[in-house]
Amino acid sequence: MKIVLAYSGGLDTTVSIRWLKEKYNADVITVTVNVGQEEDFEEIEKRAYEAGASKHYTIDAIDEFADKYITFGIKMNGLYEDAYPLSTALARPLIVEKVIEIAKREGTEYVAHGSTSKGNDQVRFDLTAKALYPEVKIITPARVWGMTREEEIAYAKKYNIPIKEESKVYSIDENLWGRSIEGDQISDPSVEVPEDAFKWTRRTKTGKLKISIEFEKGVPVALNGEKMRLSKLISILNTELGSYGFGRIDHLENRVVGFKSREVYEAPAALALTTAHKDLEKMIYTPHELRFKRIIDQQWSDLVYQGLWIEPLREVLQKTGDELNKWVEGEVKLEVEGNSIRILGRESKYSPYSESIASYSKGWYPTDEMARGFIEIWGMHSLLSRKSRGI
Ligand code: ARG
Repeated sequence: MKIVLAYSGGLDTTVSIRWLKEKYNADVITVTVNVGQEEDFEEIEKRAYEAGASKHYTIDAIDEFADKYITFGIKMNGLYEDAYPLSTALARPLIVEKVIEIAKREGTEYVAHGSTSKGNDQVRFDLTAKALYPEVKIITPARVWGMTREEEIAYAKKYNIPIKEESKVYSIDENLWGRSIEGDQISDPSVEVPEDAFKWTRRTKTGKLKISIEFEKGVPVALNGEKMRLSKLISILNTELGSYGFGRIDHLENRVVGFKSREVYEAPAALALTTAHKDLEKMIYTPHELRFKRIIDQQWSDLVYQGLWIEPLREVLQKTGDELNKWVEGEVKLEVEGNSIRILGRESKYSPYSESIASYSKGWYPTDEMARGFIEIWGMHSLLSRKSRGI
């Protein structure tokens, strides 16, 4: 029997290698997908073999993540509950796709992952896997073994399993689009997040940073006038904006599994790019388009968060999003200072904005007669109903 394990290199999945071998007498094939997490992938491979993997795959999917997933995060202004840029939620379907590809290549129906029964990730993993591979059999060690973190460490010691020197206190998930931090003191929502929880947004620079971002069809294509790949643009923004202390999020989040959890994120690029993109949309869309777009943005974000990447409606929403994003071209200038962001200016060739119409000092003015007629007819519904109600 062969089991393909989604392998992060962390404690849970490292212990899982040995546990799966023991319990199923199986060959464990580990798959690590690089979606932009800061890791030493050679170390991870070494650890997998030392823990007992019979074969290991490292898959570089950074550009695929940027070009096929994050682009939609930007075009659909993906922010769950107006706060969380969906970094983990967007990467999971891609990781699963890669794991399933390997399972098919290896000719096995058995796949495994390290998600626990309290999180959203198990939902994302299981549903995406079933959609891509209906025959799949999913094994979930961490949902079954009932070990605490300390017991896992003891298990690793007992079997001589190498474990990564990792943060003892926080549970971290990281990729190009953001870093999430959970656990320990942070679990008490009244407690201020300790500085040591942060890694990407340690403030090493004071003052303000100004940048400009150019968009084509809703996707960022240049930073400060220099064209570059999306993955590179995001990684530069994470470093640059992060060094000014920008990109921190403290979110009381409604999980799919029925409880609230306090989630902390660092996502400098994601926050800056969604802020800029939303602003440019306002410059371009009709009021009808804008209101409609905010509704589908939210619905799309909910589906992605809730593990329903496979829901057919998600693609319908994206197609509609693409149609509207056809016009989202132009440049946004912004400034960050600490954790604040400010739009400094924007321009687009597709904007109906007209300075001579909008300005108080020049150009077009409705006549007094036009204004009176408009106001009378505009307010007629409200005035007539007040009268009929005697108010
Ligand atoms: N709360 C976020 C989400 O559900 C982050 C999850 C992080 N996952 C993890 N295994 N640490 O998308």
